[in-house]
Amino acid sequence: MMITGGCGFIGSNFIRYMLKESDFTGKIINVDKLTYAGNPENLSGIEDEFKDRYAFIKADICDSAKIAEIFEAYKVDSVCNFAAESHVDRSIVKPDAFIQTNIMGTFILLESARLQMDHMVRFHHISTDEVYGSLGSEGYFTETTPYRPNSPYSASKASSDHLVRAYHKTYGLPMTISNCSNNYGPYQFPEKLIPLIILNALEGKPLPIYGDGRNVRDWLYVKDHCTAIWTIMKDGKNGETYNIGGDNEMENITIVKMICDVLDEIGKLNNRRSRRDLITFVKDRPGHDRRYAIDFTKLYEELNWRPEASLETGIRDTIQWYMENQVWVDRVKSGEYLSWMEDHYG
Ligand code: NAD
Ligand code: TYD
Repeated sequence: MMITGGCGFIGSNFIRYMLKESDFTGKIINVDKLTYAGNPENLSGIEDEFKDRYAFIKADICDSAKIAEIFEAYKVDSVCNFAAESHVDRSIVKPDAFIQTNIMGTFILLESARLQMDHMVRFHHISTDEVYGSLGSEGYFTETTPYRPNSPYSASKASSDHLVRAYHKTYGLPMTISNCSNNYGPYQFPEKLIPLIILNALEGKPLPIYGDGRNVRDWLYVKDHCTAIWTIMKDGKNGETYNIGGDNEMENITIVKMICDVLDEIGKLNNRRSRRDLITFVKDRPGHDRRYAIDFTKLYEELNWRPEASLETGIRDTIQWYMENQVWVDRVKSGEYLSWMEDHYG
């Protein structure tokens, strides 16, 4: 199986899950460009432990010659495509790489897969609920909700979803797509809300909340996401889309207060102030989607999947992970891992 973007947050959790916990018995080729978000330390120990079943190749999914060469050399029969630019705020400031990687990169993978069609078993594409746009206080996204992306990020993901589906309809490529809600858990880059708040709160720094803080996200623990992806790859119907949700809708302000309270319970700040005092309302994100909520009935009814983590246990486990992995945190925050990557991978 070729996994793209396997050194990122979800991809690295998925590789660990596949090799260590799932019933998958095949080999994994992890193809990653190692952008600022790709960190080989997310997979430390895996190369040694799974010498015969795991290989890493530093490559850009937009490099068509290199991608074609990898498909050919490894006789790739299935793909799980995580590789993407993934942060909405960055897409607002500079959309270029989002268009390139998320759209062109997916197209290049699809072309290589098309040329290997005789032995392709499954092209699984990882997407987001953000392609459906924004909800009011009522309702849920289902697999038939029309696409209405609002940010350059979600528009680029929507484009790639359409391409994957088109390759199925036009060329018969065996594929599935999953559209999931906001993930959280170990190894998430601290630009996203939950790790950013945990690390700032630990250090007593301001906790930035966009707008009025009442935007709602549905939070999916990354381990639950991994079990869902593998379930869909194994048993999902060819040509279908599945929504994956965490059954954990919450306003941003509530989740931030929850993180503050758990950390205060573990140990108060030096000045004995509550971490809630660090909350700082800042200028809203342009085009900020108000609410995302996922209906995952299809995945539950067809494939018997449901999430296991509650937000309460998931947040506690995540906080504990960040507190126990100070070396990882320091290296990511100082950019040290970027210079280490330069030395190792050029
Ligand atoms: P991430 O930013 O942590 O990791 C992305 C990975 O892709 C990195 O390892 C990076 O080096 C790699 N990459 C980027 N451009 C590449 C290129 N041109 N060629 C090869 N590799 C490249 O992202 P994540 O949070 O792990 O998200 C993974 C996937 O899940 C993405 O497709 C994202 O759109 C989707 N998704 C994420 C979330 C979430 O909450 N994080 C929610 C819904 C969907
Ligand atoms: P984020 O983690 O960037 O994910 P996404 O934009 O894909 O949903 O943001 C989650 C929510 O938190 C979103 O409503 C924006 C908000 N947010 C803040 O209020 N402050 C922050 O510093 C960040 C990064 C996000």
